[in-house]
Amino acid sequence: MSINRRKFDALVIGAGGGGLRAGLHLAREGVHTAVVSKVFPTRSHTVAAQGGINAALANMVPDNWHWHMFDTVKGSDYLGDQDAIEYMCKVAPKIVYELEHFGVPFSRTEKGKIYQRPFGGQSQNFGGDQAARTCAAADRTGHAMLHSLYQQNIAANTHFFDEYFAIDLLRDDDGHVTGALVIEIETGEPLVIEAKATLLATGGCGQMYKTNTNAHVNTGDGMAMALRAGIPLQDMEFFQFHPTGIAGRGLLLTEGCRGEGGYLVNKDGERFMERYAPNAKDLASRDVVSRAIYTEVKEGRGCGPDGDHVHLKLSHLGADVIMKRLPGIRDTCMTFLHKDPITDLIPIYPTAHYVMGGIPTNRAGEVVSVGKRKGTEAVVPGLYAAGECACVSVHGANRLGGNSLLDIVVFGRAAAENMIEYVRANPAHRDLPEKSLEQVEGRLARWEQTGEGPSVLDLRNELKTAMETYCGVYRDQETLATGIEKVAEIVERIKDVRLKDQSKVYNTSRIEALELENLADIAMATVTSAHARQESRGAHSRVDFPERDDANWMQHTLYLREGRKLAYKPVRTQPLTVESFPPKKRTY
Ligand code: FUM
Repeated sequence: MSINRRKFDALVIGAGGGGLRAGLHLAREGVHTAVVSKVFPTRSHTVAAQGGINAALANMVPDNWHWHMFDTVKGSDYLGDQDAIEYMCKVAPKIVYELEHFGVPFSRTEKGKIYQRPFGGQSQNFGGDQAARTCAAADRTGHAMLHSLYQQNIAANTHFFDEYFAIDLLRDDDGHVTGALVIEIETGEPLVIEAKATLLATGGCGQMYKTNTNAHVNTGDGMAMALRAGIPLQDMEFFQFHPTGIAGRGLLLTEGCRGEGGYLVNKDGERFMERYAPNAKDLASRDVVSRAIYTEVKEGRGCGPDGDHVHLKLSHLGADVIMKRLPGIRDTCMTFLHKDPITDLIPIYPTAHYVMGGIPTNRAGEVVSVGKRKGTEAVVPGLYAAGECACVSVHGANRLGGNSLLDIVVFGRAAAENMIEYVRANPAHRDLPEKSLEQVEGRLARWEQTGEGPSVLDLRNELKTAMETYCGVYRDQETLATGIEKVAEIVERIKDVRLKDQSKVYNTSRIEALELENLADIAMATVTSAHARQESRGAHSRVDFPERDDANWMQHTLYLREGRKLAYKPVRTQPLTVESFPPKKRTY
């Protein structure tokens, strides 16, 4: 196959907040940068982030980055790496002011400062009173950030390949990543993009669950590309279920609803979170609130004819607060439920939201794979990852709301900083790895076969149902073992899928087939890692191992696709400049 080739210094795959923050830094420093995105950049999933971005600005109540760090370590159930968490929390105020200067229209206090709302798991003074750390642009913070970052990239001359789908990474015999093979979705034409440094910023994989808050495009593409390039995925067993999805539909109703003073009630009108988290109540960490909702429903205190959800109450906030601070939430409720939160209770239930695990990186955004000798690590030269597809790991076993927009910009920028150094130190392009290219072309050629076979849509739905049934909020050995069998069966059946249409032009069924392969690989990583971890920590709740087990499990899992093997590495408990927060019982 003769394929067109383009050369850039840097290649960024994904144009959400992480990819655009990186692209901007690279382009402004004069690095010739390509950003590849399978959707028009401002449609990337960051656009859907509602509640805000955390930074200890102290605009509403006293705050400092060290308290933010404590909350993040505790929220992570002590699995987060404390060096990375310190770095992120310390740099957060600077990063938010940078965004303000890029034009992000943050909401304002009466004195004109950036408005900050309370979010779950936030405290003053290491576990004291509730903090208010989440900087918000009403309930459309991600939208505001993404549009500002895109405009800045246009001004900086970043080169965009809009609506191009990345097939796989190219890696030479020395292990260097030298770019990727992509296809233009409109024409179906493949293109090799050669780069000295490549960043994966492809976002999450929430589409592997049936009910989720994620965009249709969140199919774990970058994570699956890493797996196929022989790189492991870290901590995939930790998947966050957001407490307030619209019941039965999964659409997100921001934690900002509770931050503004909303609360959850059961069928008796009881504010039940007071029983589960006497101090933080509805602003306990997400894993705690989601489990409480499950318990209420399971024990017969759910609302509605089937008792299968609880209610979010906002009406007491008054029309002014709802319309000023939560206008998007009101729109969503009116459009999808024909209910107005100014007067009505809103039915909610936990919904799949965010993957804490991903491609292992260090603070510099470099991808860190397993080394040749057992128990060692090795940086993958030329490859970087940032944002939800990466695991640095600042979220550990459970992410705090508002820390994901922060993570993407902090580590998008940090990765770009190191890519700039790498590109300057390695000014020549490496030879195109023909063997790797042939392999990658093989993946594309496989989807040129037409004929009869199982349907992509049916298999995607089966996969989503299997993950929800066998790898949901509560897990045990037997259910997870069944989950592995079900996903393995689906992986086998994907091999029999044939496309109906030979044409490559606008062949979205080919893209959907490629996405299905990605989702299936990620689902297998998730359920296998969940099966291996025999303890309960953060979002991973094993009914057969209900306690956290620090003696055996203060370690990250690493899942390798080849042979579906697992390796382990210790949590980095040593911060950069302050004392470590040792594991403690986690109560809110
Ligand atoms: O609830 C929310 O607004 C979501 C925020 C987040 O996941 O960080």
